[in-house]
Amino acid sequence: REVEFLQETDSTNTEARRLAEKGAKDGTLVVAEYQTAGKGRRGRSWTSPSGTGIWMSLVLRPGLEPACAPMITLLTGLAVSAGIEDYCGLKSQIKWPNDLTLEGKKICGILTEMSADMEMIRYVVVGIGINVNIEAFPEEIAYKATSLYLESGKKIKRSGMIACIMKRMEEYYERFLDTADLSCMRKEYEDRLVNMGRKVLVLAPKGEYQGVCLGINDDGELLVEREDGTVSRVMSGEVSVRGVYGYV
Ligand code: BTN
Repeated sequence: REVEFLQETDSTNTEARRLAEKGAKDGTLVVAEYQTAGKGRRGRSWTSPSGTGIWMSLVLRPGLEPACAPMITLLTGLAVSAGIEDYCGLKSQIKWPNDLTLEGKKICGILTEMSADMEMIRYVVVGIGINVNIEAFPEEIAYKATSLYLESGKKIKRSGMIACIMKRMEEYYERFLDTADLSCMRKEYEDRLVNMGRKVLVLAPKGEYQGVCLGINDDGELLVEREDGTVSRVMSGEVSVRGVYGYV
């Protein structure tokens, strides 16, 4: 696959979108040492210090309808978690839909952006930010963010880890394309799902409610059993899910 490596860019997602608009192929990967304007979800910024993290974005052209895009985000979380484990043995958990956590703190965020018409995705850019060798976090986020180094005490070679993650990404993406759903990886996803069986707080546009997480369905929606016994399907997007007592 094509790989573009940059010492510095505004955001690998933005660069990947620029390349996609110029016709970059399915599977093109943009990796940067430093981002001057790293983007997080919900319009937030993503701090991307130089030399200590993995900041990368993948261009995908799945040839599916736009409704399938959220599932790509979920399978990316699974692939990154599995790739990290393959490379260094650390078993991260997934906070639905796609944050990765270790010991209840975030180590990875994923930002998916899409260009589509009504029927078909033109391209999806999946941006992956992993806190790898970061030695300390600012006080205001230290209670909810950590790095692979802080959790393991070991510095990690980032290029090898990227290769392992991309190998897993290819595997899960190809399996997903066969069925256009997550049926063949749902169990693996749930094995890593930190919310499983726990009380969650769902912050939906129409109000918030609590329930117990039962897992996901084949479309990647979170299944939440409410106090009255009904099961709600939570779609990713505008909804935010938290632990009742904190981040997870
Ligand atoms: C989140 O808010 O959790 C998503 C964070 C995504 C950060 C990554 S870093 C590489 C890619 N480029 C960006 O500008 N953002 C994503």
